[in-house]
Amino acid sequence: MTDPLVIFTPSGKRGHFPVGTPILTAARQLGVDLDSVCGGRGICSKCQIAPSYGDFPKHGVTVSDGALSEWNDVEARYDRVRGLKEGRRLGCQAKVMGDIVVDVPPESQVHKQVVRKAASAKPITMDPATRLVMIDVVEPDMHEPSGDLERVADALRDQWDIGPVTARLPVLKALQPALRKGQWQISVAVHHPANSDKAQIVGVWPGLHEGGLYGLAVDLGSTTIAAHLCDLADGSVLASSGLMNPQIRFGEDLMSRVSYVMMNPGGDAEMTGAVQDALNTLAVEIATEAGVDPNLIFETVIVCNPVMHHLLLGIDPVELGQAPFALATSGSLTMDAREIGLTGIAPTAQAYLLPCIAGHVGADAAAVALAEEPNNSNDLALIVDVGTNAEILLGDTNGVLACSSPTGPAFEGAQISAGQRAAPGAIERIEINPDTKEPRFRVIGSDLWSDDPAFDTVPTGICGSGIIEAVAEMRMAGLLDASGLIGSAEATGTSRAEPTGRTHAYLIHDATDQGGPRITVTQGDIRAIQLAKSALYAGARLLMDQRGVEKVDRVVLAGAFGAHISPKHAMVLGMIPDVPLDKVQSAGNAAGHGARIALCNRAARTRIEETVHNIHKVETAIEPKFQEHFVNANAIPHATDPFPELEQVVTLPEVAFGASGSAPGGAGGGRRRRRRG
Ligand code: FES
Repeated sequence: MTDPLVIFTPSGKRGHFPVGTPILTAARQLGVDLDSVCGGRGICSKCQIAPSYGDFPKHGVTVSDGALSEWNDVEARYDRVRGLKEGRRLGCQAKVMGDIVVDVPPESQVHKQVVRKAASAKPITMDPATRLVMIDVVEPDMHEPSGDLERVADALRDQWDIGPVTARLPVLKALQPALRKGQWQISVAVHHPANSDKAQIVGVWPGLHEGGLYGLAVDLGSTTIAAHLCDLADGSVLASSGLMNPQIRFGEDLMSRVSYVMMNPGGDAEMTGAVQDALNTLAVEIATEAGVDPNLIFETVIVCNPVMHHLLLGIDPVELGQAPFALATSGSLTMDAREIGLTGIAPTAQAYLLPCIAGHVGADAAAVALAEEPNNSNDLALIVDVGTNAEILLGDTNGVLACSSPTGPAFEGAQISAGQRAAPGAIERIEINPDTKEPRFRVIGSDLWSDDPAFDTVPTGICGSGIIEAVAEMRMAGLLDASGLIGSAEATGTSRAEPTGRTHAYLIHDATDQGGPRITVTQGDIRAIQLAKSALYAGARLLMDQRGVEKVDRVVLAGAFGAHISPKHAMVLGMIPDVPLDKVQSAGNAAGHGARIALCNRAARTRIEETVHNIHKVETAIEPKFQEHFVNANAIPHATDPFPELEQVVTLPEVAFGASGSAPGGAGGGRRRRRRG
């Protein structure tokens, strides 16, 4: 008689096993993805399965009631103490008695898929570099002397096929008490990067460790630092938090910070200390918020631009401020988190920094590439991560190009007269009636438009998405000409166009009688936005030139701010090349997503390390064509490039407010631009 047939779903893997074989053993032999931390001891409950009974013509089997062994004491005890879901069994306890179909539910799969928020985003397959296993360790024997660590290493090799392993002092200190307290049964957190035969024990606990293992995905930006705290077992985000980068006090943009280092000996160490402290504070805060012991954070993945990369590591960034923009290293880095000042988390925690693409295109752009995978796109995708610098990627399966463009902080509401960060009180949406030239707006923290009788919020300023809408709406309402000049009250027919010296400003809201500010869009604001958008568009155009194309198939706006930009307004402004509006997508914080992917899946680290080698880098600062594109992009939407898709949805009024139809100060081309990193 043949042995019973065991079929696993959803994998479809099948095989014959002798009566009495535990399902976990069958799964392991077939390579079925069934989790286990305790190694079949019946205490971790990770191996839960759902047996199915009845006829399965598709599989060619009939499963009878006795196909699995009866509940045993271990399962009964587990059910009594913790509760086992209806229809579930412990895979390490249930034994094969007849033909059986076994479903492995998602939570019991080691390499479970983590669905991401953005509908278009691919799920992450869990395979973190740090995992938890339980082992039985041989007790010491005077006649066969060996150290506890050596016997732990033997157990890891024999029971889990892990090794060779090393351990640092904090683990060695904890090892002996854990072994004795656990009566030679311990849980071990092992860090094992992909493509490496070296594994390191980073945590030990007596018996079964049930407190979990956690990781931090950090997007270290020039202006803000954002972090997600993730459960390394299932990839879930337990808390997200952010704070301002304290280096701002040394300079708003990256090149000011590099200049600070040049002019102040020891300035780099000062900035390194500031950012490391901030990361540490953030890590502890976010763990506290999630109710997680910070000592259980064993991994952190950090993405950042090249200057932040060097300043975090304590490497002098001066070389990045001048051609040829040499990085100390462009490769990925794995190191003890303590080396970069993360002292508030597990003392053995590991840090991983994604590779930089080039001296001016950093690990943040690499993270965007990891999240958005332009290299796997069938259509030509332009991905822009809008921040203090815009990281721009253009590509498809035929190849990917990348550059960084110095947009400055205007898109984030900085350098704007009434600008503020996106926070409650900030105007985030604006519409201007083209006939009456009257505005209405919405403020973060309120769902009402300002012309709603129930609207009673006092606006405090305009955030990045608000200023983009304001400028675009002014252009659409005929308050602003193509050169970027605001018209006078006489020329526009509204008293909201107020004289301010030789130029004009448009009044959005006067909240002075409510104790708030007077919010206007000034000529200076328009200039700041023009410079930012010209830099962004010119960067994109430069990549299109290199690729030899006049148009792209789709545009992806990444970055926290990208999620709030209205595609129509971005196009009216000429921030991005002309594409059908429904081909402008938002990818949310793609750099942060990339960090999370690298945290949850170690193979993704290898993948991005290989991908960045194949990304063609373009340096905007030394490319003469960039200047030409920059000048032409100063007009709203553009001096020379057509915007046929935009014209189908918006008709821009033909107005000109300057004597020659061009704005004072020229088209912006003569203004000295600075690279911001
Ligand atoms: Fe741990 Fe079954 S493997 S309970």
